[in-house]
Amino acid sequence: MAGTFETVGVVGLGTMGAGIAEVFARAGLAVTGVEADPAALERGRGHLEGSTGRALARGRLTEAERAEIIGRVTFTTSLEDLGDADLVIEAIPEVMDYKRALFTDLDRVCKPSAVLATNTSSLSVTAIAATTTRPGRVIGMHFFNPAPVMKLVEVVRTVTTDEGLADEVAGLARRLGKTPVTVGDRAGFVVNRLLLPYLNHAAALLENGLAGRDDIDAAMKLGVGLPMGPFALLDLIGLDTSYEICEVLFRETRDRRHAPAPVLRELVTAGLLGRKSGQGFHCPEEPQSPSPHEKPSAASIAVLGEDPGGFAAQLSGAGFKIVDVEDAELVVALSSTPVVEQAVRLPHPDRLVGLHLVGDQIAEVASTALTSPETARVAAGLLRILGRTPVPCKDRAEFVVDALLYPYLNDAVRMYESGYASVEDIDTAMKLGCGYPAGPFETLDRLGLATVRDGLRALYAEYREPSFAPAPLLDQLVTAGVRSIRDLSS
Ligand code: 3HC
Repeated sequence: MAGTFETVGVVGLGTMGAGIAEVFARAGLAVTGVEADPAALERGRGHLEGSTGRALARGRLTEAERAEIIGRVTFTTSLEDLGDADLVIEAIPEVMDYKRALFTDLDRVCKPSAVLATNTSSLSVTAIAATTTRPGRVIGMHFFNPAPVMKLVEVVRTVTTDEGLADEVAGLARRLGKTPVTVGDRAGFVVNRLLLPYLNHAAALLENGLAGRDDIDAAMKLGVGLPMGPFALLDLIGLDTSYEICEVLFRETRDRRHAPAPVLRELVTAGLLGRKSGQGFHCPEEPQSPSPHEKPSAASIAVLGEDPGGFAAQLSGAGFKIVDVEDAELVVALSSTPVVEQAVRLPHPDRLVGLHLVGDQIAEVASTALTSPETARVAAGLLRILGRTPVPCKDRAEFVVDALLYPYLNDAVRMYESGYASVEDIDTAMKLGCGYPAGPFETLDRLGLATVRDGLRALYAEYREPSFAPAPLLDQLVTAGVRSIRDLSS
């Protein structure tokens, strides 16, 4: 059945639309790309030429293959040219009124058998379908940025979608070299429903001064193995798009976790939209933040708390003297929050930092209200000597990495618990849609359900944010001694 799609239309040739056009053209389909005016059409052509030019430069395409791909795309400013298309996908801005108006026009122009697909990030596919006389032939086909690279396509069926159409479109996605995950019509589907709250949370933590932009980005990249930090990814997605998705999620859920962080609104209003406008959280021209490599002056260090990783031994090995707390120039408390509770019991509370070693590459360095700037600087310097990137942060529950990671894992458990998607589909979607090294349920198994549950309790106690309370299912699994949600679903 998937073979019936031979000619496709793509309406909207911004970053996503042009990427989607490229994906279809690479798979051998004839593509008609439509934009509103000649200037936008030229920009769309430029995206396609740029992306395939990059592949050519890297030796991934020959000049002839590139010419063939570009040759399969016809550019036009007229929707009327879509009359013969077997499938038309729209990738215009995330504004419901625009989408509904477009689908009304497509319904008029396209042949009755044509499938009308939307690449919406979060808007209701059902509401879009309802503007047409063929709601059974309307479906969501959600690609991920950069479309030529990311392997996932979310196929979104509604209650009115024709029986079998989701399978046909999933077959088409496979023909494009993608992996489809088919789900029902809920705001944000799988990926954006889990991704955007995490990105929004990072923006809120930045705004609260928990840690700096580059430090949070480094923490999630190096500490969790994500391909990009949250601010680099927000800039890639576009802050306007990210803001809109959060708004849609919030309208559906009224969950404060989905309410866009004020900094997003401010940047969007200022026209700082991320890569598409040249500046967002990051600006391409700005210098990388300097990483001072000064040798720490503290020679004597005390280590408090459990030290299963042998951190004290590593310090000795690097030439530092391990001493009693009274004599130490620097005191590090390993993995225990709140650090300030320990600080107030020390003779020199200004000399204490909390330290959380995350993986092999980073360590969070938490300063309390009493920690001196010199102590924090010395601690960061000694971590560099030990080969770790320091992530300076405030003394707040779960510091940076776990504060961002655990609520995301909790959201995934809630999604599974709601019956919206299976464990396997959620894991697949996050890995292939966002390039994560592991899905949320794989990550939960690795960290241990009890560790995550306890971390969520600590976060809830600190921030009093209702969505940080452990999902009932997570709580029950820990109580029952079940080690993996997979044991339930298999
Ligand atoms: N267009 C085409 N190809 C691109 C590209 C682009 N914009 N950016 C990167 N690539 C290709 C490169 O050519 C390269 O291919 P090659 O190995 O065949 O030469 C490959 O991708 C890797 O690129 P780079 O080496 O330049 O860079 P990285 O290794 O850092 O990868 C990345 C870049 C693929 C963007 C990676 O950082 C990543 O996976 N990031 C996460 C992206 C993500 O989460 N996307 C989903 C966002 S949510 C979304 O889109 C939903 C929407 O509704 C909001």
